[in-house]
Amino acid sequence: MDIIIKINEIHQLDKVQAVIRKGIIDAPADVVNQINALYANTEMFNKRLSAGMENMFTAWTDDTCVGVISVMKTQVQAGNRIISSILFIYVDPEYRNRKIASMLMNHCLEECKKCNVFKLSMSARFIEKRLICLGINHGFKPEGYIDVADEKYDSVILGIRP
Ligand SMILES: CC(C)(COP(=O)(O)OP(=O)(O)OC[C@H]1O[C@@H](n2cnc3c(N)ncnc32)[C@H](O)[C@@H]1OP(=O)(O)O)[C@@H](O)C(=O)NCCC(=O)NCCS
Repeated sequence: MDIIIKINEIHQLDKVQAVIRKGIIDAPADVVNQINALYANTEMFNKRLSAGMENMFTAWTDDTCVGVISVMKTQVQAGNRIISSILFIYVDPEYRNRKIASMLMNHCLEECKKCNVFKLSMSARFIEKRLICLGINHGFKPEGYIDVADEKYDSVILGIRP
């Protein structure tokens, strides 16, 4: 099975949105709301990519999108210091364990380097152990914890200087 990684593929956003919808089926309500607010509107999604506010890395086999990493520029500090966050990362369960997430992450880090991103962060729920391993294996370090529900920490923030 050949996997092709595409950067900012805007012509088949409907297929990317279908994967994103699949990725939030079992997610907590706050995550579903955030992801829908960001990705359900095709026009806004397209505009962010075209304006360079967001970079999207997608994995394809033939005409099927099977994985996504999306990275948003969240701050530009003094001296053009760019701070970015991974807002969505997901591989279709049928296509896991084939290094697709690793390939997407390598492209993502490469592009962040090219774009002079000073700091890239991502958050991962503790139950997503594979996601945490993926980040750590690519050089991310734990930088903090997020307290989402009932005053119990349930997510870790991982960061890297690409
Ligand atoms: C995390 C995820 C992206 C990994 O996708 P994948 O394509 O299967 O990952 P890869 O095959 O590239 O493996 C990446 C890393 O995951 C980890 N991993 C893979 N299989 C694992 C397993 N069975 N147990 C623990 N870690 C595992 C390893 O660190 C691996 O890297 P390595 O092989 O170099 O050690 C995928 O499981 C996923 O989409 N999970 C859901 C993520 C999520 O909740 N997203 C938010 C939606 S709101």
